[in-house]
Amino acid sequence: MAEAKRRTAVLISGRGSNLAALIAATKGESYPAEIALVVSDKPDAAGLAYARQAKIPASVVERRPAAAKTEFEERLDGELKEAGVELICLAGFMRLLSGEFVERWRDRMLNIHPSLLPLFPGLHTHQQALAAGVKVHGATVHFVRAEMDSGPIIAQGAVPVLPGDTPDRLAARVLRVEHRIYPLALGLVAGGRAKVIGERVTIEGARAVPRATLLSPSD
Ligand code: GAR
Repeated sequence: MAEAKRRTAVLISGRGSNLAALIAATKGESYPAEIALVVSDKPDAAGLAYARQAKIPASVVERRPAAAKTEFEERLDGELKEAGVELICLAGFMRLLSGEFVERWRDRMLNIHPSLLPLFPGLHTHQQALAAGVKVHGATVHFVRAEMDSGPIIAQGAVPVLPGDTPDRLAARVLRVEHRIYPLALGLVAGGRAKVIGERVTIEGARAVPRATLLSPSD
C-alpha cells in the first residue's frame, strides 16, 4: 500500500503562483504531500482561484482591524486543526506570525523567500540585490523561525544577475526557480528526508540534491 501523504496547508496573501506550483507537484502519484487546505488572509487574493480550480478547500482568515494577533492566530489554528494539517507552506503570505505560533509549528512550517538568504531579508529583495551589485541572486525555502526570513535552509535556487536587469526582470527569473525549489523542498520534508540537526538541514540520500538546487545560468 502507498504511504499516506502528509496533509499540508498553503497560506497565501496574493497572486499564488507558488501555490499553483505546489498544486501541480502534488498531482504526482509518488509525491509525499497533498494540499488539504489553502488559507488566505485576504479575501480578494487572486491565488484563491487555483484552490477553486483544483477543488481544494480554501478559507479566508482575515486579521480584523484592532483585533489582537492572537485572535487571528486562534482562528487560523482552528482551520488547520479541522483540516488535520501536518505541514504548513507559507507562499507569499505577507503577515508575521507570533513566536508562539512559530514554535508550535517548529520544523513543520516552510517559507519561500525571494533571495539567497541570509542575504536580503525583508521586502524589495530584487531591488536590494541590484543595489548591492551581486552577480548571483535567487530564492530560498527554509523552516520558519520567529525572526523574519530566518531559519534552517532546505533548498536554494540561483540565477544570474544580467546587465540591464530591472527589479521586475530579475523577479521573473527568480520566480521560475521558486516554482522548482518549493515543490522540491516540500517533497524532501514530507518524505522525511530533510532533518534539522543543530539548526541546519541535512538531506538524507542527497546525491541528486545539489544539482536540483543550484540552477545553471541557462535555466
Ligand atoms: C514570491 O516571490 C515569494 O517568494 C514572496 O512573495 C512572492 C509571492 O508570489 N515572498 C516573500 O517575499 C516573503 N518574504 P506568489 O503569490 O505568486 O507565490
